[in-house]
Amino acid sequence: MSTSVVEGTGDRPSDLPRHQKAVITISPMRRRHLRSVLTIEQQVYPRPWSERLFEEELDRSGRLYLVARVESTVVGYCGLLMIADDGHVATVAVDPAWQGRGVATRMLAELVAGALEMGANQLTLEVRVSNIVAQRVYRRFGFAPAGARKAYYADNGEDALVMWAHEVGGEDYRRRLAELVGSFDPPTVRQGFSVELPVSSTHPAAQR
Ligand SMILES: CC(C)(COP(=O)(O)OP(=O)(O)OC[C@H]1O[C@@H](n2cnc3c(N)ncnc32)[C@H](O)[C@@H]1OP(=O)(O)O)[C@@H](O)C(=O)NCCC(=O)NCCS
Repeated sequence: MSTSVVEGTGDRPSDLPRHQKAVITISPMRRRHLRSVLTIEQQVYPRPWSERLFEEELDRSGRLYLVARVESTVVGYCGLLMIADDGHVATVAVDPAWQGRGVATRMLAELVAGALEMGANQLTLEVRVSNIVAQRVYRRFGFAPAGARKAYYADNGEDALVMWAHEVGGEDYRRRLAELVGSFDPPTVRQGFSVELPVSSTHPAAQR
């Protein structure tokens, strides 16, 4: 669905001169991606989802799962489910070798735009209270803390911070999202599906 650029060319980013930029392609997650998705999943989550769970999610309605690739290599993925007009961000993960290069921000921009197309008026998620990097990414999309779930994570008993972004169906939010997407250099190019943002960042109305 979308292509944006970070440093690197598709090999491990650490092997590449920092001035080189790799094209990131964002597209719907398919079963053929699951082997790579699971490799990342097992590196970044203490209680990784199984292949079966991903397959079931891909078969369900009201879901949007995306992968980010550099050439043919999956470098990250994310997923969302709709419950009424609430979009629940179910997962966001980036290959540790590609973290800190804006991959999650670019994926979330597409995920959120997709949620708006699916009729979301609010977005929500749970995140570990200690996961400051993820919270920082979510704040960029208007998520704010709205409470906690005590001992939510079974592996270490950590609390979850519950975050919400409200009124995401409104013009203000769409305009801010379009501005963020428009700030990616070079612009995002989507593959495999289209997401409409009503006001592009180059539209005069977005520059007030
Ligand atoms: C959370 C996660 C998805 C972020 O992915 P990412 O691609 O690194 O995120 P981005 O690069 O878009 O943005 C991260 C921000 O934090 C900064 N950042 C990234 N890694 C960092 C680190 N190790 N230390 C400090 N800051 C860091 C980035 O610079 C960026 O901020 P900036 O845009 O203001 O510079 C990734 O760290 C991850 O997969 N973590 C493990 C799984 C996880 O925790 N998922 C969320 C569950 S709710």
